Amino acid sequence: MSKRECSQDCAGRALAAQKQKLTGGAMDRTFIVGGNWKMNGDRKAIDEIIKFMRAGTIPTNNEVYIGVPSIYLDYVQQRKPKNVEIAAQNCYKVEKGAFTGEISPDMLKDLGVKWVILGHSERRKIFGESDELIAEKTAHALEKGLKVILCVGETLDERETGQTNAVVFRQTKAVADKIKDWRNVVIAYEPVWAIGTGKTASPEQAQEVHDALRKWIAENISKEVADTIRIQYGGSVTAGNAKELATQKDIDGFLVGGASLKPEFMEIINANVKAEK
Ligand code: PGA
Repeated sequence: MSKRECSQDCAGRALAAQKQKLTGGAMDRTFIVGGNWKMNGDRKAIDEIIKFMRAGTIPTNNEVYIGVPSIYLDYVQQRKPKNVEIAAQNCYKVEKGAFTGEISPDMLKDLGVKWVILGHSERRKIFGESDELIAEKTAHALEKGLKVILCVGETLDERETGQTNAVVFRQTKAVADKIKDWRNVVIAYEPVWAIGTGKTASPEQAQEVHDALRKWIAENISKEVADTIRIQYGGSVTAGNAKELATQKDIDGFLVGGASLKPEFMEIINANVKAEK
């Protein structure tokens, strides 16, 4: 380990310990940052992204994944830095069969993919995926041994009419009704009004929902799951706002869209690492 890596590492550990104190000794929740490339990129653009990712620092205490269009999963798997995992952006709820255009968790595993992003608001809104379908997909992916990033979040209209918590709880409950083991689930709270709009939730706004969701989980799933589950924030995260968001006690990382295609992604990956003195 280089000196620079070591000092970043130690600083990262110090911040984690600080957060642990704030959470009243709750379990350590490894900071996790994911990129969501959505339907962007080609091999040339991917080569550029891989280049800046290889050149940058990935703190050994953080977990990093990149959500890649399915057609490029294998291409990226062959080239990604070792300490970065790849995620699919979707998968179907059964093993195989006559489901034209779909991919299964078994296929993802065949390529060495470890993660899948499910329930992204674009899947919910544009492709009409219901809470029920997302829950079924989540259950099947977990059963097959994949780790799931489960996205939840309210629309602007829902926020303005005071339904934020109800929506996020409802989306989470649909999954809670279908799964028992949450160890391989990370929740991404992504307010729809903040996605791709340049309007980030303020650290306080994000923290408020993360805190409410964690309390809901404690009451409706278990205290242990509430203490250990990681909740990422997503929605116009940039190098400029990530550090402040990362200080919030219930924000355990980020899901990053647009900025994950740019070199600033490396700064976001390091957002929980305190600057060297
Ligand atoms: P954004 O997207 O960072 O471009 O707002 C986030 C996401 O959709 O996951």
